[in-house]
Amino acid sequence: MQNIQEKFSDKVKHLEASAIREIFKLLAKPGIISFAGGAPDPKLFPKKELAEIAADVLNNQGEVALQYGVTEGYAPLRQWVIDRLTNQGIISEKDATIIVSGGQQGIDLAAKSLLNPGDGVICEEPSFIGGLNSFRCNNAEIYGVPVEADGLDTDKLEELLKAHSNVKILYTIATFQNPSGITMSLEKRKKILELAETYDFMIFEDNPYGELRFAGEDVPTMKSMDKNGRVVYFGSFSKILSPGLRLGFVSCDPALMERMIICKQVEDVHTNVLSQMIAYEFVTRYDIDAHIGKLRQVYGEKCQLMMEMMDKHFPSCVTHTRPEGGLFLFCTMPEQYDSKAVMQKALEKGVAFVPGATTMIDDKASYSTFRMNYSTASKEDIIRGVQTLGEVLKEVVGE
Ligand SMILES: Cc1ncc(COP(=O)(O)O)c(C=O)c1O
Repeated sequence: MQNIQEKFSDKVKHLEASAIREIFKLLAKPGIISFAGGAPDPKLFPKKELAEIAADVLNNQGEVALQYGVTEGYAPLRQWVIDRLTNQGIISEKDATIIVSGGQQGIDLAAKSLLNPGDGVICEEPSFIGGLNSFRCNNAEIYGVPVEADGLDTDKLEELLKAHSNVKILYTIATFQNPSGITMSLEKRKKILELAETYDFMIFEDNPYGELRFAGEDVPTMKSMDKNGRVVYFGSFSKILSPGLRLGFVSCDPALMERMIICKQVEDVHTNVLSQMIAYEFVTRYDIDAHIGKLRQVYGEKCQLMMEMMDKHFPSCVTHTRPEGGLFLFCTMPEQYDSKAVMQKALEKGVAFVPGATTMIDDKASYSTFRMNYSTASKEDIIRGVQTLGEVLKEVVGE
């Protein structure tokens, strides 16, 4: 059929293929050192343990594992998540919690349940492309608020709220933000909760990296301070166990959750039962906190190494954030330079990163920022790759 594009829905016709996915195609070139991914270190997956558990579950509980499950999630895993979030002080008995097919699905279910076309969503800039695309698909009007060293700019947020009465949701990755690595201060979290009361909006607190702290002190989640059911909290097993299992969880007001469960029934009926049973057996047979401790240590070392290499090899006018956890740090060149153009040059020299444009609401404009992931490359590749990138940057922006 010709011109099938004309038949595309308004929901999807403006979506661009993720630039990150386009970059992944180039990464197939042998020898490329990639800092573009957003994945955990595959060497740290507990493969042997999961293989044994998978065989055991299929052999001994196969009739459950291979059967339809309930939409809310495999009951033992769901209860384990509820107990963990309760013990961490994040949720209370007022909240409903379900298992979803990754935190990404949780964001989309909540967006679908709340947004009418033209409703306003305020996002951090930069932000996570999966969240942005979900709001785009739900025909939201998206407004950006800049991220400062201690989290989103709450003065700008209030200006936006005064200017736009259609705002229904604020989307924030308050802890070890993707892509900036920045963590929002406690004061700003409290301020946002106050603003949510004054201007009557919901807060989407997306926290897939919160358990990956390797420096500094924990900051309470907004959900833990949420008195009136304004916060929808998204968590994930992707970064603490395995993204391939596709397991996440959502906690929020029970009435909203009821809508989300119906939406999930439309989308995928329920989350993969086998995955849920494997994860449950892993967290009960093994010490998940010891496993997370190992991840924190390795990511802390790699982040430190990447920062040291940047400080040594990058031109002084290229700055970077100093994350206390998570998987990313964010670099900023002087504003006249476009990181997409620099990316092409870096790829020619065998190094990849994510240009800032993919993390912005207007993803067609030029930005002088880029995201660097430190979790997947080996330490040797971090040393070599950052040095090479430093040479490319010096060619572009000078010393
Ligand atoms: C900020 C943020 N939210 C949500 C997700 C989705 O994670 P998943 O669907 O694998 O749980 C990601 C994944 O990279 C992310 O960076």
